[in-house]
Amino acid sequence: MASKKKSKKTQVQLIKGMKDILPSEQLIWDFIKKQVFSLARDYGFSLIETPIVESTQLFKRAVGEETDAVSKEMYSFVDQGGEKLSLRPENTAGVVRAYIEHGMLNLPQPVKLFYFAPQFRHDKPQAGRYRQFWQFGFEVIGEKDPIIDAQLISMSYVILQELGITAQIQINSIGDENCRPRYIKALTQYFKEHKKDLCADCQKRLLKNPLRLLDCKVKKCQDIGQAAPQMIDYLCEDCNKDFTAVLEYLDELDINYTLNPKIVRGLDYYTKTAWEIVEGDEEGKLQALGGGGRYDDLVANLGGRETPAIGFAMGVERVINKMKEKKVELPAAHRPDVYLAQLGEEARKKSLRLMKELREAGISISEDVYKNGLKNQLELADHRHAKYALIMGQKEISDETILIRDMESGVQETVDYKKVVKEVQKRLNARVVEKVLKIKAVKK
Ligand code: HAM
Repeated sequence: MASKKKSKKTQVQLIKGMKDILPSEQLIWDFIKKQVFSLARDYGFSLIETPIVESTQLFKRAVGEETDAVSKEMYSFVDQGGEKLSLRPENTAGVVRAYIEHGMLNLPQPVKLFYFAPQFRHDKPQAGRYRQFWQFGFEVIGEKDPIIDAQLISMSYVILQELGITAQIQINSIGDENCRPRYIKALTQYFKEHKKDLCADCQKRLLKNPLRLLDCKVKKCQDIGQAAPQMIDYLCEDCNKDFTAVLEYLDELDINYTLNPKIVRGLDYYTKTAWEIVEGDEEGKLQALGGGGRYDDLVANLGGRETPAIGFAMGVERVINKMKEKKVELPAAHRPDVYLAQLGEEARKKSLRLMKELREAGISISEDVYKNGLKNQLELADHRHAKYALIMGQKEISDETILIRDMESGVQETVDYKKVVKEVQKRLNARVVEKVLKIKAVKK
């Protein structure tokens, strides 16, 4: 009889451009999340979570059919019901859709929303460019006062500072429907004169959306773009007035910024103020950690009432890469208050109950209830930097006691089992008092 040979299966691997966020990375992710949530709370922003999948039409209308993010990089598919869907390449479109759909225009304005969520772009994977990447973003919908522009720019600067990065703000105004047509005309005229030297995509863009020529990633197109007319010279009175006010507020806030006429942003919904927050990469090339701008026409373009709005988003992986490069010190990892070590079946059973009681009293624990050797368990307690170990063996079970071991000094004390929670609390409180006294002494 022919024997059945087991063939070795090939390994299924991570998709190119995607990343696992492993336990070892959680400390830095947690730190960023905490800072972002605290900034949001202080500035009055509420969390919004929109679906990863939206109708393809949403992104075509909001972000623009001619943008790279939609025309080249979007993950799109037709689902089982025949609907054309896409993984979101960015979050502003979804937030604005939700704002309109849930009647948020009836709430007191402006509505301030923030998110911390994954986005998808089928971009060429390289350092700081992934196909699934996370963004945190802040959106203010329903206010046109330029003081909001300055406040958001300042938030984008401050959050990076709080994460240990001093980045540079690059700012521009890309005008509005009153002044931009005149600029587009001049821009088209300029690029027409160089048409034969442009890449095939830009030759198409010249007819459909000339502003997008300014964010082409092809070197020869970028070189031609260097001498192109600048929007700032075409701003109407209203846009000029707002832009001047934004810059004045930034001066007031002592935020350094550079005027950069090349910032037009890669997405179509922008009007007026546009900015990027950049830092040099390892080769000294400037990389955007975040970007944003006004999008005063987007709510109406998606079927809502005329509503001014502005926001920004930051790329979390890029921020993390920068923090690692700068060796930013992270807060200490969590230390369990106690490690529960047990020896023998009785102790093992009793420790299950004790675990619950300690947690109910707000004491953080660590344990390996399936392990036996005491030495082994104390090594694990040490490895996890537990403050105390609670040790229960045969003797302690019969005496109805428990051993408390100070993991730093090694001093152990036997206490009445019934009083263990109180005894641990007493020691933890004494540590806090000692710490405060030490800080006071250093300050003196
Ligand atoms: P964005 O400039 O396309 O703007 O993206 C914001 C940030 O996301 C970038 O500065 C970058 O740090 C990060 N990012 C973008 N693509 C990638 C990628 N492939 N890999 C890693 N990180 C990436 C927006 O998305 C707008 N929705 C921002 C906004 C909010 N405007 C108004 N409100």
